[in-house]
Amino acid sequence: MIVSVKEILAKAKEGGYAVGAFNTVNLETTRAIIEAAKEMRSPVIVQITEKTMEYAGGRGIFNLVKNDAEFYAPEIPVGIHLDHGHSFEIIERAVEIGFKSVMYDGSRKKYTDNLSMTKKIVEFCHGKEINVQAELGSVPYLGEFEAGQIKWEDYMTDPEQAGNFIQETKVDSLAIAIGNAHDFFKERETPDLERLEKINKICNIPLILHGASDWENGKVKEVINRGVTCFNVDTAIRMAFINNLINSVKNQGNVGFDIRKLLGSAREAVKETVKRKIKFFGSDGKA
Ligand code: G3H
Ligand code: 13P
Ligand code: ZN
Repeated sequence: MIVSVKEILAKAKEGGYAVGAFNTVNLETTRAIIEAAKEMRSPVIVQITEKTMEYAGGRGIFNLVKNDAEFYAPEIPVGIHLDHGHSFEIIERAVEIGFKSVMYDGSRKKYTDNLSMTKKIVEFCHGKEINVQAELGSVPYLGEFEAGQIKWEDYMTDPEQAGNFIQETKVDSLAIAIGNAHDFFKERETPDLERLEKINKICNIPLILHGASDWENGKVKEVINRGVTCFNVDTAIRMAFINNLINSVKNQGNVGFDIRKLLGSAREAVKETVKRKIKFFGSDGKA
């Protein structure tokens, strides 16, 4: 069942657990995420990036997620979200397709430019009851730095600035940088929990932690207790899919030239990964 992301996040915040926002790119990853949520009885967010819209067709992938959610998991709350939209035009396109939740990522822009564009997008979206996530500070990506060589201070979310940003823009949720990074093995050894506490106290809206693919231990609980309501996971899905596929191709005797067997096996690997994550985030049994 398709529900609003705002509602999924509000329930998680109130219930003291977090949900996963999982990136899909195709038929297999979509079905894997939806089935994992169903088997775990967990609310879930399925998200699509600009690059995936280009790859799969925006309308095609949106309708695929919607159809799978309605057909395979009618009793499970599923939110569909545009991840890392970088321009007003891509937000407009997503809205036209039917997205009810979008992220505008102006985190690499000057603060004042991020603020004014986020504000413009919130005004555009709230008129249509669309949920908006923004990012302040910036979550780095693989390739931007060598392990141990990043100046984390340059990336971190400033709590006071975040408070002003939310007040000015009226954004619904905020992606924060507290030592998290996209891709595996890139984050700071310990997240800046003190900073997170301050952000949470000042902001009081759902906080989103991008780069959560390798957040699996006690760290997850520590940040949920300090206001993180949603973890974004993409790399772990890609790794599960590709590693399984490599293995299947190496042992091709088992699958021959049946594309469905090759990709079906990769889909199952993704499903197991998503189920594992859901358990860590504590949203199992919450649907
Ligand atoms: O944080 C976002 C994704 O991991 C990047 O994915 O290659 O689809 O833009 P993309
Ligand atoms: P990972 O690279 O850790 O999976 O992060 C994904 C993400 O933040 C998507 O927005
Ligand atoms: Zn991200």
